[in-house]
Amino acid sequence: MRYLITGGAGFIGSHLCEALLDSGHAVYVLDDETTGSRANLSHLFTNRELRFIPGSIADEKILARLVGTVHHVIHLAAAVGVKYILDHPLQSILTNVVGTEKVLQACREFEKPLFLASTSEVYGLQTHAPLRETDYSVIGATSVSRWSYACSKALDEFMALAFHNQGAFPVTIARFFNTVGPRQSPAYGMVMPRLVDQAIRNEAMTVYGDGSQSRTFTHVKDCVHAVMGLLAHPEAAGEVYNIGGTEEVSILELAKRVKTLSESQSEIKLVPYSEVYNRNFEDMPRRVPDISKLEKTIQFHPQYSLDEIIRDVISDRKRRSALN
Ligand SMILES: NC(=O)c1ccc[n+]([C@@H]2O[C@H](COP(=O)([O-])OP(=O)(O)OC[C@H]3O[C@@H](n4cnc5c(N)ncnc54)[C@H](O)[C@@H]3O)[C@@H](O)[C@H]2O)c1
Repeated sequence: MRYLITGGAGFIGSHLCEALLDSGHAVYVLDDETTGSRANLSHLFTNRELRFIPGSIADEKILARLVGTVHHVIHLAAAVGVKYILDHPLQSILTNVVGTEKVLQACREFEKPLFLASTSEVYGLQTHAPLRETDYSVIGATSVSRWSYACSKALDEFMALAFHNQGAFPVTIARFFNTVGPRQSPAYGMVMPRLVDQAIRNEAMTVYGDGSQSRTFTHVKDCVHAVMGLLAHPEAAGEVYNIGGTEEVSILELAKRVKTLSESQSEIKLVPYSEVYNRNFEDMPRRVPDISKLEKTIQFHPQYSLDEIIRDVISDRKRRSALN
């Protein structure tokens, strides 16, 4: 099969490219390199089944040319990362809503199935755990711009499901929970690579707020394994799935584990959110997925423990800092 991956030069996209090529598929990547980079694919460029097309999902002509020639579209391109969203609020909404609408219209025109990347952020301020796909979104006020990301992704889901339910083309939606691993950039507000970089440089490791906010972390290889399973499963069409890990950890505890596993001398420092973001920043206290639907559909179980994930990120960040 030939796949188009929008945002395929990004963190998750580059790992997904690898998995699809390894399975004998051809892959077209459309990416404008906002937060990703073709360097993430450089080790794959010898494979003649990979084509990198620099460009934006905002460009309807490129989309028509590409969507018309593939069998399946995987839409990952988005404005991503809390820091990036806060620094580029309007452009982020336009990319995630208008850009996604263009991808959906191209899928409708050429009747191509779509896999859509959504996010655990759509659950917003829900505090119970674990979160099920049918749970309500509890989104904060519009004056707090971080919620625009959750709203834009929720709108993407509504639009995609509307096309699916009209019979225009099949859609599968995955809500990724914090996904981490090699090649993830610390530049846009992702906590794991940032803490690891601070630890390996023996700089203060900064934990925002009181550090009690908790998350689960998924190794990107587990995430990609789940995506591959869903792509191959006909019953996944029209459905929404959580993809995430099961080991809940507070960010303070995460910092301690990173410090231990990297044998760092860093101090761990609590920093108020207002010093990092703006004064009215809000964060979700807890985010843990219920992955039973995914387990039932594709018999998925995460293979990487939190410590293994942290070790992989440490080796990747050390290797990159040695290269620079
Ligand atoms: N990593 C996570 O923890 C996580 C969690 C939830 C959801 N997601 C979703 O997964 C997807 C991939 O995220 P990622 O973590 O790999 O981030 P990423 O930033 O590495 O990947 C996004 C890619 O999209 C590209 N892009 C952005 N705007 C574009 C445009 N207009 N046209 C073409 N390409 C564009 C970027 O250059 C980048 O390569 C995103 O949709 C994101 O919302 C990721």
